Amino acid sequence: MMSSTAVLQQENELQITPFSPIGAEVKGIRLSDPLSEPTRARLRKAFTDHSVLAFRDQWLDAPQMMAAVQIFGEIFPQHNAKFSIPDHPLVHYISNADTLENGKRYIPGEGYHTDHSNAAAPPMATVLSAVKLPSVGGDTQFVDMVQAYQDLPDEIKQRILGRRAIHVYQSSHSARRLPQLSEGRRASVPDAVLQPLVLRHPNSGHLALYINPIRIEGILGMDDKEALPLLDQLLEHATQEKYQYRHVWKGGDFVMWDNRSLMHKANGDYDMNEERYLYRLMLKGVPLEGANG
Ligand SMILES: [Fe+2]
Repeated sequence: MMSSTAVLQQENELQITPFSPIGAEVKGIRLSDPLSEPTRARLRKAFTDHSVLAFRDQWLDAPQMMAAVQIFGEIFPQHNAKFSIPDHPLVHYISNADTLENGKRYIPGEGYHTDHSNAAAPPMATVLSAVKLPSVGGDTQFVDMVQAYQDLPDEIKQRILGRRAIHVYQSSHSARRLPQLSEGRRASVPDAVLQPLVLRHPNSGHLALYINPIRIEGILGMDDKEALPLLDQLLEHATQEKYQYRHVWKGGDFVMWDNRSLMHKANGDYDMNEERYLYRLMLKGVPLEGANG
């Protein structure tokens, strides 16, 4: 139990400083310390309000990371066990040192996307803890899909409201190649899942555009001749700079984001002889509901 003085001190030191247009930095806290319930509640609210939370200088190892994320939810088992770290299979790593089956270097997270939209209940959040970083580059960019939806012309909103898209592990329309799943994992990843094109956020209630160019195969009941240009148009609209927060990584950063209200991408714009290595885990989400039910 924390003393009431310690609880008050923790509350006084916690600062949440919004970025523009989305995201916030959380200061005055060490995630490896015991945290009081009022502090945990403020962090959960900040996550709903800002969609990205960045904590500097945390240097969490895998067990500390697993403990810290319990504030927000339960850990989501990942699709591809190939990237598990030894001793902690729920924690994966992201590294630029890996290659695909064809021998090409695999740059994790390139191109805007949202994580695992082909799961029946996609992960609510993804969390990264930076271990090793290149000296320049490798930023992560996030775009605000709530504001992007709000700004769409009414005519487009009417075309997409109530529609569902077909999400698969690897879209045949995507140029980005993902690592192949092992036989065992393939059996547990659904062939295709329908997700709303406009979702109602389970926590905030806001409407958000929900697209994912690496996993969307098409729009249910819409011909590809109409659906593919529409999806391109939505992507181009949503990835404008005015919707973006760009995170410039520093060692020890702990960053988490909401997969229902954002898309994100990593940049492969750095010297590939330098290592970029982060721990990653995701948190379980709920099945997504469309704007009208
Ligand atoms: Fe991702």
